[in-house]
Amino acid sequence: MLQAGTPAFQSHPPSPAFFVRPTEPVTLAELYVMTDSKLFIPILLGTPRKNRESENVARWVFAKLAQRDDIESQFFDVCDFEFPKAEYGQDIKDQFPEWRDAIIKADGLVIVTPEYNHGYPGTLKSVLDLLLREYVHKAVAFVGVSAGPWGGTRVIEACVPMVRELGLAVTFSDLNFPKVGSKFDENGKLLDEAYENRVQGFLDELAWMARTLRWGRENVSSKFHT
Ligand SMILES: Cc1cc2nc3c(=O)[nH]c(=O)nc-3n(C[C@H](O)[C@H](O)[C@H](O)COP(=O)(O)O)c2cc1C
Repeated sequence: MLQAGTPAFQSHPPSPAFFVRPTEPVTLAELYVMTDSKLFIPILLGTPRKNRESENVARWVFAKLAQRDDIESQFFDVCDFEFPKAEYGQDIKDQFPEWRDAIIKADGLVIVTPEYNHGYPGTLKSVLDLLLREYVHKAVAFVGVSAGPWGGTRVIEACVPMVRELGLAVTFSDLNFPKVGSKFDENGKLLDEAYENRVQGFLDELAWMARTLRWGRENVSSKFHT
């Protein structure tokens, strides 16, 4: 059922042009004009490890987000979250207001995660577990990083059921950095030009998901955001 409404935690005003279902399919560019505001898509660097290679990857993807005129972003680093020893999860979300408010406002999220024993770093899980309802019906895209040849494909597969439980909708176009130690020079400059095309496709798909889901949140009623 299509219905104009004001979701409890939406960040954008509903788009009057879309209260009526369009009779013709629209392009993403047309939807951008009709909804008339940039997407907000933060990026989260998922490991606190000293000398982490994933930081080069996250900084490079963040720069690519910043170059787009349809997306605003904000950089988050799990290193900056100081967790209490005996408290966990949503109970302490107000101790991290910047993260809380960014996800409330967000249309999507990019997660940059290294592969640690085919899984994700525990600190990344601790940050994601701070919130729940705030993620619902928003897009998430993964950037996998590994020393080995698989580019974090296994950690991304491990993340999918976890973010599904958070209510996030996962894109199917990941970005993978295998053998990451050879991908950047000592100044953090990416040495492989093939990533220029890859990151455009990755972000285009994320933008499609994020904008379409934003329209859905603003115009289609749901018990999670009405
Ligand atoms: C605890 C731990 C487990 C790891 N397990 C894997 C693994 O399963 N597969 C792999 O390709 N690399 C593995 N690595 C290597 C990382 O992929 C490598 O450190 C890479 O640079 C990305 O992680 P970083 O951002 O911490 O540097 C592991 C590294 C650590 C510290």
